[in-house]
Amino acid sequence: MLDPPLPEIALVGRSNVGKSSLLNALAGTGIARTSATPGKTRMLNVFQMTDVLSVAYYLLDLPGYGYSRASHVDRRAFRLLITHALNRPRLAGVLWLLDVRHEPSTDDHAMQELFADRDTRVLAAFTKSDKLSRAERQRREGELGKNLGLDKDQVVVTSAREGGGIGELRDAVRRLVG
Ligand code: GTP
Ligand code: MG
Repeated sequence: MLDPPLPEIALVGRSNVGKSSLLNALAGTGIARTSATPGKTRMLNVFQMTDVLSVAYYLLDLPGYGYSRASHVDRRAFRLLITHALNRPRLAGVLWLLDVRHEPSTDDHAMQELFADRDTRVLAAFTKSDKLSRAERQRREGELGKNLGLDKDQVVVTSAREGGGIGELRDAVRRLVG
């Protein structure tokens, strides 16, 4: 159990989708390790966050899934870790990251089923939006949101690199923990 007891948000997404970078952007400081090499985050790292309105919560930074070079043991360890995180009594919801440029993978869809099984509240961040033009970004937001059956208010398009959408994401996270 984490002490003090606070609501928890789990950061979930494919390896290399930008989880640790987004965590750093939310925190406004480099607290999580990022890397161009997939599979950087190996265990469950917990960060205590306090936003500008003094709302406190824990962000659980999980390893990414779908890392092609992960061993059988790693994959099993990941499954245990994700189900543990999703079953935590104080979990307010997941912050689910998807690369705005790509279609959801089989692993993404499997993950969404885990959320659905538990009625986990989902806030989606479509990451790396700086890689697209403004028009492309809007088109992809619509397509990806529709493909995943997400409501508009469940989706924020973000760029950890340029800061796009980070303020909006903070507001959405606050609503989730509040
Ligand atoms: P694992 O811990 O390996 O699962 O990765 P992760 O999901 O934590 O990704 P991480 O934050 O380490 O970022 C992976 C790569 O994507 C790094 O090279 C980052 O610099 C890059 N990246 C992350 N966010 C952005 C973004 O908003 N824009 C761009 N252009 N690159 C990004
Ligand atoms: Mg990471």
